[in-house]
Amino acid sequence: MKSVIKIIFVINAFSMAKRIEDLKVIVNKRLNNDFFILELTGNTTIPDFLPGQFAQVRVDGSSETFLRRPISIHDVDYEKNSFKLLIQIAGKGTKRLSELVTGDILNLVYPLGNSFSLPSGKDKILLVGGGCGIAPLLFLGKYLKSNGFVPDILLGFRNRGRIIEFEEYLETGNVFVTTEDGSLGEKGYVTTHSVFSSNHYSRIYCCGPDTMMKSIASYCKNKDILCEVSLENLMACGIGACLCCIVDTVKGNLCTCIDGPVFNVNDLKW
Ligand SMILES: Cc1cc2nc3c(=O)[nH]c(=O)nc-3n(C[C@H](O)[C@H](O)[C@H](O)COP(=O)(O)OP(=O)(O)OC[C@H]3O[C@@H](n4cnc5c(N)ncnc54)[C@H](O)[C@@H]3O)c2cc1C
Ligand code: FES
Repeated sequence: MKSVIKIIFVINAFSMAKRIEDLKVIVNKRLNNDFFILELTGNTTIPDFLPGQFAQVRVDGSSETFLRRPISIHDVDYEKNSFKLLIQIAGKGTKRLSELVTGDILNLVYPLGNSFSLPSGKDKILLVGGGCGIAPLLFLGKYLKSNGFVPDILLGFRNRGRIIEFEEYLETGNVFVTTEDGSLGEKGYVTTHSVFSSNHYSRIYCCGPDTMMKSIASYCKNKDILCEVSLENLMACGIGACLCCIVDTVKGNLCTCIDGPVFNVNDLKW
């Protein structure tokens, strides 16, 4: 049964129709100086998203941000017909998005990219996120939970005051936290957390800064653990046309936007 679900899951990721749509901002919630959440709804029924997929968001009202910005699907509420984007202010585009108010219209190309693969019944699963890389992990956690899995979730923050969405992650699995100053959870970085020595994971999903993902990837390769990472390469078109998001893999050069953003670390030439 699980293998049937898995096949459907993979087929769906490739066959899912892409939309270009105007969506309405129903909430813009500021979480701290850097992060905010946009909740969006549309006139049509939202698609059946897969965890790891993203949207290319048009940034209106700024002449310097003509390229769309890639942002992961953070959370989905099918009953409300809405979904959320968790965004970190990095530059002009994301700053402009942080200024949107309820009722504003946001144009998206979505859902884009592949997805994290579904585990098998016996898997012990860990999700690892840092920075804006925690964004796709909430929807992934919920997706896993709805398929009968209870993942461990390890999230890294700078300090206690920077912790966001804690309650939401708690609802999807067993949450562990690191802070750089030790103000909550274990002191240090996710890569040094004790879950790695006290548990035997068979599958690790990871999204965050490159150095963090490379370190987790190297740990997984040494221990022969299946590991998937979601890359945050710079993107322009998001649909495989401009080749600016190329990643070097054992299968040759692949586009992060259509062949990813999720890759098995054994396929990456890291
Ligand atoms: C598939 C994918 C999913 C993403 N999901 C999210 C998400 O859910 N939430 C979120 O906050 N961010 C996410 N990002 C990163 C986000 O797209 C960038 O932070 C954003 O495009 C920056 O735009 P800007 O105009 O604000 O900054 P810019 O002015 O374009 O750049 C500001 C700084 O951010 C850096 N930057 C630009 N683009 C990226 C990028 N793609 N990755 C890392 N650094 C970048 C630039 O090098 C520069 O140093 C995702 C990226 C990808 C590829
Ligand atoms: S962003 Fe243009 S090919 Fe990937």
